[in-house]
Amino acid sequence: MSDLSHLADRYRERARWPDADRIAWIRKDRWLGFPKAEAVRKTLDAMLRYPPRTRMPCLLIYGQTGMGKSRIVERFEAENPRGFNEAIGVATIPVVAVQLPPQPTDGEFYGEVIEKLGAGFAARGDTQRARLLTRRLMGQVGARMLILDEINHMLACTPRQQRIFLNTIRYLANDLQIPLVCTGNHEAQAALLTDAALAERFDAVELARWQNDEAFRLLMVTLAAILPLRRPSQLEEQRCRTSVLDLSDGNTGRIFRLVETLAVRAIENGSECIEASDLDADDLVLPSVSMKVIAQRRGRARARETV
Ligand SMILES: Nc1ncnc2c1ncn2[C@@H]1O[C@H](COP(=O)(O)OP(=O)(O)OP(=O)(O)O)[C@@H](O)[C@H]1O
Ligand SMILES: [Mg+2]
Repeated sequence: MSDLSHLADRYRERARWPDADRIAWIRKDRWLGFPKAEAVRKTLDAMLRYPPRTRMPCLLIYGQTGMGKSRIVERFEAENPRGFNEAIGVATIPVVAVQLPPQPTDGEFYGEVIEKLGAGFAARGDTQRARLLTRRLMGQVGARMLILDEINHMLACTPRQQRIFLNTIRYLANDLQIPLVCTGNHEAQAALLTDAALAERFDAVELARWQNDEAFRLLMVTLAAILPLRRPSQLEEQRCRTSVLDLSDGNTGRIFRLVETLAVRAIENGSECIEASDLDADDLVLPSVSMKVIAQRRGRARARETV
């Protein structure tokens, strides 16, 4: 084993673990605070501390699937956990985050929030009662922020339902006087921001695809410093970076899965490091590799066979 100096201090010990434990650790969910994700998290923090006023700031976090929107929401929720107010004997939920159901009519949406607030609601058809109950419960638990994850689900509704849903969001932003945060894809961004009143209220921040720049190099450096491999990897090198970007299409989720797959292989085959040539393997598991690249590779392989 090398002296493990290629790893960050607090990750060195982990590299001495048995293979199975290292592999299990690699496959676990974790939070990696790359600068863009951290910046969004800090914005949420600042919004949470914003003093109440008539018009509270609202934020839309948007980007393609797998860019890490839900991960930021989960992290922020975990950092601001539920509690219990001993003085008045009620649960406190500072950050209420709900994932929108696949076809969110406003009634279903309120139902989802009510459930998150720990209450049941029998009269599902009664939107007005659901709205009043939501408002009351939000006050009771001391909610200081409402996060709606996956607002793109509203696009599966009819245009009329979409309008009603956007009105619901607008109403909530006015009524609750707490910051409202939405996440969604580019189509959701277009839908939300074509509503003039919402465009006025919402700031928007994009989680854009990774490019071959300094931020991406630093991401590779970070991954190389925390993955429990016993020899230094080449992730930071240009050839590796280009291949990772090609294979992942610059998508955060795919980048992580790809590098994690390579790290597991490096443990299993005993090489204990990731090298540029590992990224040429034809059998890299499907979901981590973009379909476009797979098609290209198959094309190249067929061309080789026919010469
Ligand atoms: N900050 C992060 N730290 C560690 N892993 C991350 C981070 N951000 C994203 N990931 C990885 O990317 C995967 C996809 O992220 P996430 O589910 O948050 O994407 P999303 O933008 O919500 O996608 P969708 O639009 O499909 O809901 C996660 O499961 C996780 O493996
Ligand atoms: Mg998500």
